This record gives sequence, structure tokens and C-alpha cells, in this order.
Amino acid sequence: MYAKFHSIGAYAPSKVLSNKDLEKMVDTSDEWILKRTGISERRIAGDGEVTSDMATIASDIAIDRAGLEKSDIDLVVCATVTPDYFNMPSTACIISDKLGIKNVQAFDISAACSGFVYALSVAKAFIESGMKKHVLIVGAEKFSSIVDYTDRSTCILFGDGAGAAVISVTEDKSEAMIDIHASADGSYADFLVTPAPGTINPVSQRVIDEGLNFVQMKGNETFKLAVKTLTKDVKDILAKNSIDSKDIPHFIPHQANYRIIKAVGDALKMSKEQVVVTVGKYGNTSAASIPMAINDIYESGRLKKGELMLLDTFGGGLTWASALLPFAGETK
Ligand code: ACO
Repeated sequence: MYAKFHSIGAYAPSKVLSNKDLEKMVDTSDEWILKRTGISERRIAGDGEVTSDMATIASDIAIDRAGLEKSDIDLVVCATVTPDYFNMPSTACIISDKLGIKNVQAFDISAACSGFVYALSVAKAFIESGMKKHVLIVGAEKFSSIVDYTDRSTCILFGDGAGAAVISVTEDKSEAMIDIHASADGSYADFLVTPAPGTINPVSQRVIDEGLNFVQMKGNETFKLAVKTLTKDVKDILAKNSIDSKDIPHFIPHQANYRIIKAVGDALKMSKEQVVVTVGKYGNTSAASIPMAINDIYESGRLKKGELMLLDTFGGGLTWASALLPFAGETK
């Protein structure tokens, strides 16, 4: 039994937060943001629109595009660091309920920006072991809920959104996911951290006063490590599978900063046509970034059935992951 990437769906909220809008909120400029990050605008969830709402819309599209019924899904995995509730229930349980998927295993994964590729590795393992047949994986974030909009070093970067995929069983090896590599190093935990709420900092007046509920990032250190790790990870997975970077039609890196994407693409000798870039219009949507980018090339007709995708991501934890797989859905 093999696991195939059967379909993709995504959702971006309609509200746009532009660099010009941010100029009015913090001491920054459109020019600085564009030059240092490549981001022009990002989407922000509406009032009352929560992570599971965005995830449910993206999931509905993915299930439909796979030509399946909701009742065919036998596992729901949601990757998020901005869940509806910080401890329970899991966002995957809420998504299942909103979709009308009953009596199936559902759980969340916390791996920040690497969450979607982590979820992909879980789906692959469940399917190859024969335990599941059609796994719904979701990357969804309402990052605006943990961003301090008075901190110019982080608020310019992040956006909200969701992406989902159905991973299905197949006996056809040509459709199968080829390889996934996922890893972590907790000694860099302080590079990207939301200090509260948690057992270290339970909710208190101090948490509110000191803004410990907002994401904190060592931007420059993270940047350097991201370029190094992403490049090495891709080189490793390509070498292990004897594939040359020029034979990858779609390199889909985590969309955190255009300068990171460009540095990694150049180190791998990828042409502009090979590298998928959506960071300019969505910003960094963490676990949703990769599936939203896949959806973009699917909807524009660039992604054809059977074409190879190389996914590469990096995020808080620190975590990182790469995946090599053909798109096994129908061409749009
Ligand atoms: N507008 C204007 N100036 C700014 C802004 C801003 N929005 N933000 C920072 N600056 C200033 C700084 O204060 C600093 O000023 P100084 O020189 O007077 O001290 C100067 O710009 C340079 O700051 P740096 O932090 O060195 O700028 P850098 O070029 O590193 O860009 C950035 C910052 C965009 C955050 C970059 O470091 C980055 O993208 N880091 C990686 C982010 C990432 O990949 N995260 C991983 C995934 S996220 C996840 O997992 C959830």
C-alpha cells in the first residue's frame, strides 16, 4: 500500500492588511517591509472567524476535489499553533464536527510552520501501515490572534489562512509519495516562542501586562538558521532519492520571507519558474503556508497531475521538514 497526495484546497480570509495599513500602526514603511521580506499584504480573519472555520472551508474543497464523500475520511489531522482552544478540545475535533465527519480519529499537531509537512508524514505512515485509507490533513492558523500589533519586528510578517489535502491509499507506485524527512531541535526553542498560556506561564495579570501571550521571535538568528537548514534538508532528500534539483517542476518552500526563499532557491540552482512564491500576498501563514501555496499553483493551472513537488519548511520548535511527492490529483 502506498500513500498519494490526492487533492488540495485552501481558504484565505477576505480582509486585507496592507503594508500601508501597517504604516499607520507601527514605525515601519511599505518600502522596508517589501525590501526585507517581499511581503505586500496579508489576510486577516474576520471578527468571530476562527481557525476551525477557515480549516473547514479548505477541507470541504479538498474532499470535493478528491471526489470523495465526507464519510470516506477515516482520520483528521490538523496542524496549528493557533487552535480554537489552547488545550481542549482539539481543533481537529471541531473541524470534524463542522464537516459532519463522525466517529473517526481526530487530533492536532503542534510543529509551527512545519506542521503541514509533519501532518503529511503522519498520514503517509497511517496509510502505509494499512490503518487508514483517506486522511484529511489541514494546516490552519489565525496567527493574528497571537501577534502583537505594536511590535514591528513580528506584526509585519504574519497572516491568517488555511490549506487542506486528502491523502489516500493507492496500489499504483507511480502515484505514491516518494519520501518525507521531518526533524526538530528543541535547543533552539527560544528562537520562536509564545510564552503564554501554558504550564510555565498560566493565565495571570502578569501575562496580560507583559504581553506574554504574543509571539516572540529572534528574527535575525532564525533567518540565518532557516537558510542553512532548508538548503541542507533539500540537498539531503534529493541526494537520497537520486533526483536532480533541475528535475523538480515545483519547489514549494515555506513562505516566511522572500529573501529566505531566494537564498535557498539560488543555493539549489533553481530557476524562477521552479520556485513557488506566495509570501507577497499572504505573508507567513505558518502551518497553512505550504498548502495555500500548493493550492495557488493548482488553481492557476500550473500544477498538473503527476508532476513532482518538493516541499521544504522550517518553524518554531525548532522544527523542519521536507517532502518529495507527485501531485496525484486531477489537473484543474
Ligand atoms: N520596519 C522598520 N524597521 C524595522 C522593522 C520594521 N517592520 N523591523 C525591524 N526593524 C529594524 C530593526 O529595529 C533594526 O534596526 P537597528 O539596526 O536600528 O537595530 C533593523 O530594522 C534590522 O533588523 P533585523 O532584525 O536585523 O532585520 P532583518 O533583516 O533580519 O529582518 C525579519 C527582520 C524580517 C524579521 C527577518 O529576520 C526574518 O524574516 N526572519 C525569519 C523569520 C522566519 O523565518 N521565521 C520562521 C518561521 S515562523 C514560525 O514558525 C511561526
